[in-house]
Parts: sequence; C-alpha cells; structure tokens
Amino acid sequence: MKIIMLGAPGAGKGTQAKMIAETYHIPHISTGDMFRMNIKNGTELGMEAKTYMDQGLLVPDELTVRIFLDRVAKEDCKDGYVLDGFPRNIPQAEVLEDALNKLGDQIDYAIDVEVPDENIIRRMSGRRACTSCGATYHIEHVPPKKEGICDDCGDALVLRDDDRPETVEKRLRVYQEQTQPLIEFYSKKGVLRSVDGTKDMQDVFKEIEEIIK
Ligand code: AP5
Ligand code: MG
Repeated sequence: MKIIMLGAPGAGKGTQAKMIAETYHIPHISTGDMFRMNIKNGTELGMEAKTYMDQGLLVPDELTVRIFLDRVAKEDCKDGYVLDGFPRNIPQAEVLEDALNKLGDQIDYAIDVEVPDENIIRRMSGRRACTSCGATYHIEHVPPKKEGICDDCGDALVLRDDDRPETVEKRLRVYQEQTQPLIEFYSKKGVLRSVDGTKDMQDVFKEIEEIIK
C-alpha cells in the first residue's frame, strides 16, 4: 500500500502517518524528518536545507528529490510506505510518478488532512518535537509523561525553529502556492480522499482506516 499524506503544515500529517505506519507495518517516510536528522548530524545537506527551512521556504527540489529517491529505493519500501511531506509541489509529484511508472506501480491514496488556517498557528506553537527520534507532542493535546522529555527515547523536546508564528505564516503561504495544487493533481487521478483534521486524532485515524481498510 502506497499512501501520500497531504495537508497544511501542522494539519497532523506526521501524527497520522505514524499511526498508519504502526498499524499497517509500512515505513513512514518524512522528508522533513530526514532533513532535521541531517541538521542534527551536521551534514552538508542538513546545513543547506536549514537555510531554507528556517525561512519557511521549500528546500530546492534537487536536494529533496535525491534524498527521497534514495530512501524509497531501500528494501523495506518494496511493499509500500506512507509519505509525509513529499511530494510538496507538482515537479516532485511528477518525479514520484515517473519512479513508480518504472516499477509498473502507482499511489493507492492521497489523503488530505483538512484543517483551517486559524487552528494551525495554535497547534504549531504548542508542538514539541524530540531532537533525537523526531517524535512529536503537543503541550495540551499530547503532553509527554515528563515535561520536556521524550517518552520514547528520553531526549529533550524543543519548539522547532520553524514553528515560530511568523515562520508558520510563511509556511502556510508557501503551502497554498506550491502544495495545494496537488489536491487537484491527485483528484484528477482518482486517488484523493479527504479527512476532517480538526477532529480528535483517534477520530481522524478512524476516518483514514475507513478509507484504506
Ligand atoms: P515538514 O516537517 O514536513 O513540516 P510541515 O509540512 O510544515 O508539517 P509539520 O510537520 O509542521 O506538520 P504535520 O502536518 O506533520 O503535523 P503534526 O502531526 O506534527 O517540513 C518542514 C520543512 O522541511 C518545510 O517547511 C521545508 O522547508 C522542508 N521540506 C520538507 N519536505 C520537503 C519537500 N518535499 N520539498 C521541499 N522542502 C521540504 O501535528 C502538529 C501538532 O498538532 C502536533 O503538536 C500534534 O501533536 C498536534 N496534533 C496533530 N493532530 C491533532 C489533532 N487531531 N488534534 C489536536 N492536535 C493535533
Ligand atoms: Mg510533520
């Protein structure tokens, strides 16, 4: 099963992708997490990506496509995956389509997690992310057991550099301009499904399960 998660920054793509990956035993592939891992490890790619991410801009396709194609070529992806944050514009969607066509394969579902902009800024300012394993929490909705500490790996939780309100607004604009056209792209292919992302996260997941079961 090959699934794409669509939705604005903070809509809950990562939260739902993780639940899908655990339930259906497929890898969760987040280009954002891959970039953050590279930043943490101080790689050249990470340093370059950071200059764009901190401004709320997309990382250039050249870098993004490379790390994406390397990742999906791995053995654990052969029976499917859930993509979170890729593709993020039409050229990236075309790269994905070409790669799948070569394998005689296609995307099963593009799931759009719908959340209005006003909810987004609130969600982002409350999000805390683990600096080691990438797990995400929310100070109100999903608090860690111990404040500031990741339940999974015990490392520190931080507010992401790009979750400051001014940067979130910029990310929302970039989303509207570059990523939203993917809704029509996947709708035309007949694989688009939408879920109400304002619901409680378990209820959002139930809607997703109804679609993919
Ligand atoms: P990325 O990491 O993909 O960020 P994003 O798309 O902006 O999305 P987020 O991770 O911020 O939100 P999410 O939808 O995953 O929400 P979450 O589940 O955490 O990308 C970051 C940057 O990397 C980009 O800006 C770009 O620079 C670069 N990049 C990445 N991929 C790229 C690509 N393909 N091309 C170019 N550049 C790329 O939820 C948010 C919060 O809400 C959490 O605190 C969560 O606990 C809470 N929450 C979730 N669901 C609910 C719910 N139902 N109710 C209440 N709270 C909820
Ligand atoms: Mg995410």
